[in-house]
Amino acid sequence: MPIQLPQKHNAADTTIFTVMSSLAQQHNAINLSQGFPDFPIEHNLMQLLYEAASHGFNQYAPMSGLPILRDAITRNFKQRYNIDIDADHEITITPGATYAIYTAFSAILRAGDEAIVLEPAYDSYVPNIEMNGAKAILVKLEAPTFSVDWNKVKSAINTRTKAIIVNTPHNPTGSIWGKDDWQQLAELVRDTDIMIISDEVYEQLIYDGKPHYSVLQHPELRERSFAIYSFGKVFHNTGWKIGYCIASANLSRSFRRLHQFLSFSVNTPAQYALAKHIIQPGLQAVNIMLEEKRNYFLKLMHNTPFKMLQQTNGSYFQLGSFEGISDMPDTEFAQWLTTEYGVATIPVSAFYGDKTDNKLLRFCFAKKEETLLAATERLSLVKSC
Ligand SMILES: Cc1ncc(COP(=O)(O)O)c(C=O)c1O
Repeated sequence: MPIQLPQKHNAADTTIFTVMSSLAQQHNAINLSQGFPDFPIEHNLMQLLYEAASHGFNQYAPMSGLPILRDAITRNFKQRYNIDIDADHEITITPGATYAIYTAFSAILRAGDEAIVLEPAYDSYVPNIEMNGAKAILVKLEAPTFSVDWNKVKSAINTRTKAIIVNTPHNPTGSIWGKDDWQQLAELVRDTDIMIISDEVYEQLIYDGKPHYSVLQHPELRERSFAIYSFGKVFHNTGWKIGYCIASANLSRSFRRLHQFLSFSVNTPAQYALAKHIIQPGLQAVNIMLEEKRNYFLKLMHNTPFKMLQQTNGSYFQLGSFEGISDMPDTEFAQWLTTEYGVATIPVSAFYGDKTDNKLLRFCFAKKEETLLAATERLSLVKSC
């Protein structure tokens, strides 16, 4: 009899992202499934990584992160959002955003607590809540715009609710929050002890001149929030796995109490390189390049039988419907598309606890033009089945 260890969460052992990526590999398919770019990082960033290693930045960094990186983030937020952040007490560098989200949940939750998740949702949220002995309460966003029904959120709140996790710009739908959403949230949590985790990893991937509203710009919510970011999404280096958490000094203290015994510190040369990179004057905003890719992808998708939902406002994902092509469940359809036509995508049911199937696929357009062209050429051949 093999040893049985406790199951710490109810999700599957292998996620759909792994399934689709290995299916893509097996069938030599073009991979528009997982959210990572297929183009190189900036040359300057590569050189800075080399410079860091050759200048001796090879030992443990301080627990909260390299001071030059925390200072650079402070300056960057002042410049972009006019927000003042205390680099010493309010920023903690982490090995990616997923880790920061887990650590924030761990800082907040006790066994038996509840945390609200708006779905479709990034797949780590619910397992992270369960790994802390708490229960995820799922509230659906309203398809096809994926806006929040605040009455539904209100009904999900009770005395056990200790956290709400929100995500703007949103994976997988590309919807973004307006000021009014933050105000509605503030009114719901006022006079409660509910904490907010604000997943803002796509804050710089926002299009058509729209602003990103951060939880940090809302003074009332800021006091009770962990705002989470990822350099991987901004600088096309998801494999570096460097992110950060911004929270009040009080909340950061709780966060660091856990962080110091989880990873303790984060890759030093990568922190050095990012710090030097983000303080360069005239650094080109990433959204200009990605907006062009979004427009190019949408134009090409006109030649296919897929119906695109509203163009994405943020993130590097676009949803498209295969209604009219097939009645298959979306997971089956995505697998069929990979094996028969050689294009891998993610079925949107994977982002729901109850696997809601709206016949939607998520396409990642953070790819070279030639990749997008080749993928859409294949998709234009798809026949109804
Ligand atoms: C909404 C969301 N949050 C967090 C992450 C993870 O970021 P990181 O790679 O820094 O852990 C992702 C990555 O896909 C994401 O889509």
